[in-house]
Formats: sequence, structure tokens, C-alpha cells
Amino acid sequence: MRLFIAILLDQAVKDGVLSISEQLRAHSLRGNFTGRENLHLTLAFLGETPGDRLPALKTAMEAAAGEPFVLRFHQPGFFRRREGNLYWLGILENPALSALEARLRRALTEAGFPTEDKPFRPHLTLGRTVVLEEGYPLPSAAGKIPDQPVSSISLMKSERIAGRLTYTRLLETKLAP
Ligand code: 2AM
Repeated sequence: MRLFIAILLDQAVKDGVLSISEQLRAHSLRGNFTGRENLHLTLAFLGETPGDRLPALKTAMEAAAGEPFVLRFHQPGFFRRREGNLYWLGILENPALSALEARLRRALTEAGFPTEDKPFRPHLTLGRTVVLEEGYPLPSAAGKIPDQPVSSISLMKSERIAGRLTYTRLLETKLAP
């Protein structure tokens, strides 16, 4: 199973995020935009993982879970890619989020899961392989997206079902005060 650990979003947050990605889509020549059901914030990407590792993942997620906190969104940006850029929405600097990601990375490493060496750059992917119209300035997200209270983290399975990228929640670990 292809797995990752993520923070899922409320519908009101998704409404705001989609209002930004709809503007990008309207000014793009091409691109694969993330649908409402797939919007999420990735904390850790695990990749192909045997099903018998689920109990160890549950333990690691429980060990990493700290207190609930609030996410605040920033402006859209992009990672440059040869095949078309990856556009994202940024997250405002957040010590509670960074600490959660660091605890999770440590717990996963201790449990023997391969984790990435790259620094954590929290983002919501709005679209992949996107080519925008020449000279189109990125829309501002100011005032468009409500804050997101975070009270759990989720283990997600990623698969293609009838050609469609589908994410399914396998486990949810609550953050408790
Ligand atoms: P992305 O949105 O920036 O591509 C499921 O693929 C989630 O895991 C996505 O949010 C994706 O981030 C993230 N992810 C992180 N590292 C990845 C990798 N090496 N391959 C695929 N997805 C990765």
C-alpha cells in the first residue's frame, strides 16, 4: 500500500482553497488540479508499505501526537518542475506544526520507517504539471481561507481507482490536550 500521514481539512477551508485553485485553473494552459476530496496537508510520506506494518504506524502516530493547534494559511506559490510546475498554498509558520512533524519523523525513524532527509515545507498541493498563462500574477489568498483547527492526524492510502487518484483514511489519531 502506498501510504502517507496527513492533516485533513474542514469543508469551509476547502471552499476557500478551491476558490484560489479555480482562479489558477481558469488561467492555466494545462495542469492537474487537486479536487475537493483530495485536498490535505502531508506530514510524512511513507510510500509503499506492507499491511502488517499498520500496528507499528499506529504506535508511531500515537507517540507523536501532541496537543491540538490551529493552522493558518498563507499565499500561493510553486515548486518549479520541468514537466509543469506544482502550485501550492503555503501555511503560515507554525511552531506546533513543525514540532508535530519532527516528533512524527523521529517516531517513524525509530520504528524503522524510511523518512525523507529533506526539510519539511508544509504546503497544500493545488495542482501538478501546471502551466499558467504567461504573465498571470498569482491570486492573493488574503482573507479567503478560514483557520483550520487541527485535532487529529490521519494515515492515508493513495491508489488509482479507475484511473482516478483516490485517498482513503485508514487510521485517525487524536491530538489530546
Ligand atoms: P505533494 O502534494 O507535494 O506531491 C500523497 O502523494 C502526498 O504525499 C502528497 O501530498 C505528496 O506531496 C506527498 N509526498 C511527499 N513526498 C512524496 C513523494 N516522494 N512521492 C509522492 N508523494 C509525496
